Amino acid sequence: MAGKEAMIPLLTPYEMGKFNLSHSYFDCRIVLAPLTRCRSYNNVPQPHAVLYYTQRATNGGFLISEATGVASTAQGYQDIPGIWTKEQVKAWKPIVEAVHEKGAIFFCQICHAGRASNYAFQPDGVAPISCTDKGLTPGLDGQDWSPPRRLRTNEILSFINDFRLAACNAIEAGFDGVEIHGAYGYLIEQFMKDQVNDRTDQYGGSLENRCRFALEVVEAVVNEIGPDKVGIRLSPYSKGMEAGDSNPEALGLYMANALNKFGIVYLHVIQQRGKAIKINDKYETPYSLLPMRKAFKGTFIVAGGYNSEDGNMAIASNYADLVAFGRLFLANPDLPRRLELNAPLNRYDETTFYLSDPVIGYTDYPFLEP
Ligand code: FNR
Repeated sequence: MAGKEAMIPLLTPYEMGKFNLSHSYFDCRIVLAPLTRCRSYNNVPQPHAVLYYTQRATNGGFLISEATGVASTAQGYQDIPGIWTKEQVKAWKPIVEAVHEKGAIFFCQICHAGRASNYAFQPDGVAPISCTDKGLTPGLDGQDWSPPRRLRTNEILSFINDFRLAACNAIEAGFDGVEIHGAYGYLIEQFMKDQVNDRTDQYGGSLENRCRFALEVVEAVVNEIGPDKVGIRLSPYSKGMEAGDSNPEALGLYMANALNKFGIVYLHVIQQRGKAIKINDKYETPYSLLPMRKAFKGTFIVAGGYNSEDGNMAIASNYADLVAFGRLFLANPDLPRRLELNAPLNRYDETTFYLSDPVIGYTDYPFLEP
C-alpha cells in the first residue's frame, strides 16, 4: 500500500470530518459527483436507483446523490427526485441502505431550481420563484423556461425553511449528510450572482447581502442536523444559466471565509476550465481555487473536467483534499479500480445522460473483467 500511495495520490487515505474514506481494495479520494439522472418518475426515487448507486459504491467511498428537490416548488426538470414528502423519504431508504451495505458514505444533494423551471413543474402551474423577475432566455439549454416571480422579503424565510426540512428528511431517509446545492445557476446561486440578483432589500446589492440567503440556508441546515453532516457546492466562476458574477474571486473567497463560522464538513467547488493567459508577464491559468482552498478550514473538494492525471496532481500539490468525478464515474462504475490499474476508461454517451430509461445510459456501462 505504501508504494501505491506514493504513486497514486487519488488512492491515498483521507479522513473527512468523522468519515474515514477508505475503500475495500485501497484508500481513496475519488468522489461521485452529483449527477441528475431524470429517472425518478413523479419525483419519487425508484428501485432501479439501488443498482445505479451500488454499482458506484465501495467500502469507504463517498457518493453525492443527484440534485434532489427540497419542495414542490423546487423542480426544474422532468423526474428529478424530491425529499419533501413521506413517500419520497420512504423511497430513498432502501437506496441509502444498499449503499451503506457496501460501506460507502452517502450525502444527499438538496436543491431548489428557482427560476430554472417551468409552469408545468410548479404546483398549480404558477410561476417559478426567484430573487428576481428576470427570466432565462427562452430556449436556453433547449428548455422552455417560464418567467419567474420575484420573492417578497417576508417570503424568503419559508424557502430557507424548505432546505431545513429537506435536510431533516434526508437524515430520516438514512443519508450521512446533505450537500447544499449552491452552484450552476439554481436558486441559491441566483441570489449570490450579480448578473441575476437585482434586489434592493437586505438580500440584494452588496456581496454580503447577495450571500445572505446562502448563509442563512447553511445556518438553518446546520442547526437542524449538525455541521458534521453538512457540505455545500459552489461555482463562483460558472456563467451557466445566465448566472455570472462581475467579481467571482471576491464571491468565492467571501463564501469560503464566511462558511468557516459554521464548521461545516466540506466545501465543494467547481473548477472552471480555461486556457492559460498572460498575467503580469507570466502565463497563468485563471479561475484558480487556491485562495478559496486556503481560506476554508474544512475538507476542500474540487470537480469539473478532472481526469486521473490532473486529479492526482490536485491531491499531490495539496490543491484539494478530494476530487469529484462526474461524467467519468457515470460511464465507469468501477472508476477507482480502473484508475488504480491504469485501465482504459469507458467513454460516456451524452445522448443517454437524461434518458428516462431505467437501464440505458444508467446501469449498463460495463465493469472491468474481475
Ligand atoms: C451534472 N452536474 C450536476 N451538478 C450538480 O451539482 N448537481 C446535479 O444534479 C448535476 N447533474 C448533472 C448531470 C449530468 C448528466 C452531468 C454530466 C453533470 C455537474 C457535475 O456534478 C460535474 O460538476 C460536471 O459534470 C463536471 O465534472 P466532470 O463531469 O467533468 O467530472
